[in-house]
Amino acid sequence: MKLKEWISKSESIFTRSDLQFLLRQFFKDKDIFFKQKDISLDAEKIESLEKIKKAYQKGAPIAYLLGKEEFFGLEFKVNSAVLIPRSDTEVIIEKAIEIIENNNLIPLPESHGLSSWTRDGKRRRPTGNKKGLTGAPDFGRQVHGAPVKMLDLCCGSANIAISIKKFFKDGIKVWASDISQKALSVARSNARLHKVKIDLRKSSLFTALKGKKFDIIVSNPPYVGSREIKGSLRYEPRIALEAGLDGMHFIEKILKNAHLYLEEKGFLIIESGYNHKEPINSILEKTGKYEIIEWIRDYGGNFRGVVLKSNIKKQNPK
Ligand SMILES: C[S@@+](CC[C@H](N)C(=O)[O-])C[C@H]1O[C@@H](n2cnc3c(N)ncnc32)[C@H](O)[C@@H]1O
Repeated sequence: MKLKEWISKSESIFTRSDLQFLLRQFFKDKDIFFKQKDISLDAEKIESLEKIKKAYQKGAPIAYLLGKEEFFGLEFKVNSAVLIPRSDTEVIIEKAIEIIENNNLIPLPESHGLSSWTRDGKRRRPTGNKKGLTGAPDFGRQVHGAPVKMLDLCCGSANIAISIKKFFKDGIKVWASDISQKALSVARSNARLHKVKIDLRKSSLFTALKGKKFDIIVSNPPYVGSREIKGSLRYEPRIALEAGLDGMHFIEKILKNAHLYLEEKGFLIIESGYNHKEPINSILEKTGKYEIIEWIRDYGGNFRGVVLKSNIKKQNPK
């Protein structure tokens, strides 16, 4: 059978971007979908593709079936112990990079690739080109001066930690923590894959980070209401999603404690659900520990989180 025949039998089953991703990964060829449809498939390949198609039809996410996902122009290993990184979280990373650049004096060169990467409005996955991924940010610039200290809290596959570490390289020292040992194993193998040094910690929120202070904490914690976990979300780890009835359980705890782990005027960037602006606002009003810098919207224009700046002054030793 020719690949084009298999595609025409299968394209009603996959979304277009998932089908392209599958073929790109399966054949390890970025151009396969556009240029190689005439190649012949042997029985073994057809069997493997059909197996993936069957599981996909039942609802399994393509990222778990392939063991990887593309995120922020990079490839991350994933398995059923971690959330599949979402393109919405790329917005959080862009914001973190902007904040680090503007407030911690890590300069970005004129053309740093972020503007071409961002704001296409609807991209689910980047598509491949000859150099790699279209519009991928310019990773790996050397920066001089004291490194910024960043924590990725609730790191999962460490997609946030690694993307930012790769972006600023030696300009940043990155810690990443998660309660799940299995998630930390995935994070470790992603750090190895990307050849970056990340300090990984098993920690229930801040418990294993006592005494540490960061310039910036970035977190994509669980924030789904227990009744909203349905459809394909059921394939992902419940521990990565569920946050009480209203989805606010972890966000509230983080807002109430993060200032203790921030340097003076340090930043907290937190991803949240589309309906969390009001509850976040009311916690912030009560705690009074932060200045609101910016409410964040995702590519679809939905509310997606907030950038906060600690207003706690350092105590001068007596
Ligand atoms: C929404 S996932 C985020 C994963 C990753 N940062 C991302 O953006 O794809 C939330 C993560 O929080 C972790 N988690 C759940 N409860 C936690 C807790 N009490 N302390 C620390 N991490 C926790 C889960 O294991 C999961 O990896």
